[in-house]
Amino acid sequence: MLSAALPDFPWDLLEPAKAVAAAHPDGLVDLSVGTPVDPVPAAVRAALTAASDAPGYPLTAGTPALRAAIAGWLARSCAISGTPGVLPTIGSKELVAWLPTLLGVGPGDVVVIPQVCYPTYEVGVKLAGAEVVRSDSLTALGPDPRVKLVWINSPSNPTGKVLPAAHLRKVVDWARERNAVVVSDECYLSLGWDESPVSVLSDEVCGGDYTGVIAVHSLSKRSNLAGYRAGFVAGDLAVIKELLAVRKHAGMIVPAPVQAAMIAALDDEDHVVEQRKRYAARRESLRAALTAAGFTIEFSTAGLYLWSTRGEDCWKTVDWLAERGILAAPGAFYGPSAAQHVRIALTATDERVAAAVARLTA
Ligand SMILES: Cc1ncc(COP(=O)(O)O)c(C=O)c1O
Repeated sequence: MLSAALPDFPWDLLEPAKAVAAAHPDGLVDLSVGTPVDPVPAAVRAALTAASDAPGYPLTAGTPALRAAIAGWLARSCAISGTPGVLPTIGSKELVAWLPTLLGVGPGDVVVIPQVCYPTYEVGVKLAGAEVVRSDSLTALGPDPRVKLVWINSPSNPTGKVLPAAHLRKVVDWARERNAVVVSDECYLSLGWDESPVSVLSDEVCGGDYTGVIAVHSLSKRSNLAGYRAGFVAGDLAVIKELLAVRKHAGMIVPAPVQAAMIAALDDEDHVVEQRKRYAARRESLRAALTAAGFTIEFSTAGLYLWSTRGEDCWKTVDWLAERGILAAPGAFYGPSAAQHVRIALTATDERVAAAVARLTA
C-alpha cells in the first residue's frame, strides 16, 4: 500500500494534547494548524458568486484573465521584469505533494528539502519513490548527480526564517550547474515583519532568466482563501509547459469560479494590508506573552508562526501549553533537528489570542 510508505499523518499524533487543551474551562485556543480564521474579502466572494454559472470545463492553464492577473501580481509584488511561465494550482499543497511525480522524478533520484520544513515536501518525494536528503547547505551535499529537485522555503514554515537574495542566487547557481530544478515555496511572501522576503524570481536573484527555477505561491494565507484552494506556480517556461501537459491529462484543474475569485484577490492589495495588520497585532501580543512565560523565540522575522522553545523536548512544551488550553504544533513534525521547538500560529481570532495571552501571563 502506498500510504505505508508515507509518514504517520502528523496531526493525528496531536489528538491527546488537543483533548487536554479543549477541557480548559475557557475553551481551546488552537494555535497549531495555522488555518486562516478571518473573513474572505468581500470583493473575492462577489467574484466567486458572479462566476458560479460555470457549466463547462475550465482551462487547466487558467483563463487568459487569470494568467494576466498572476503575471501582473508577480511584476508588482515580486519585482520581476521578465516573462515567467504561470500555471494555477488547486491550492499549493497538491502541487507540493505531486511535483516530483509530475516532473518524472522517481526511484534513484534525490530531492533536497530543508532540514526543518513543511512535511509535504517529504511526502511528495515518497509518493514519487525518490530519495529525500535534508540539507540547508548545498556545499555539504557535494556533486551528487542524482539531485533532480531542490526545495527551498522563504519565509519558512515553521521557523519564519528568511533567505536573503544572495543565498537564493547561490542555490540557483548550484542547481543550474547540475541541471537540477530549484523550487521555491513562497506561500508566506506577503508576511514579512522584521525582514522583507525576496522572491527567487525577482530580478535581484534571476536577472530575468528563469532557467531551472520555479516559485510556488498560495492565496490561502495572503487572502484568507485556504477554503477556496487557490495557488499557482511560476517560472521556467519549459518546466511550466511540462507541468501543464501532465496536469491536463490528470484533471488537475482549478474550478472556474475559483479562477475568477483569484483574479479579484490578486488585483487587490488593500485586503492584504488589512490582514497583515491583524497578524502583526496578534504576533506582538503573543510574542510578548510567550517571552514573559519563559519561551525563547527564534527566527520568526516573517511568516505566520512564532518558532518557540523552552529548551526541553517539544512534546513536554506541547503538554505544558495544553494544560493552559493552548494547542501548539511540536517541532518534531518538521524535522528530526527540531525536537525542542514548538510552532505557534498567529491564526486565531483576536478574542482567542487575548485568551492565550491572559493564560500565558497569569
Ligand atoms: C510552506 C507551505 N507550503 C504550502 C502550503 C500549502 O498551502 P495551500 O495548499 O493552502 O496553498 C503550506 C500550508 O500551510 C505551507 O505552510
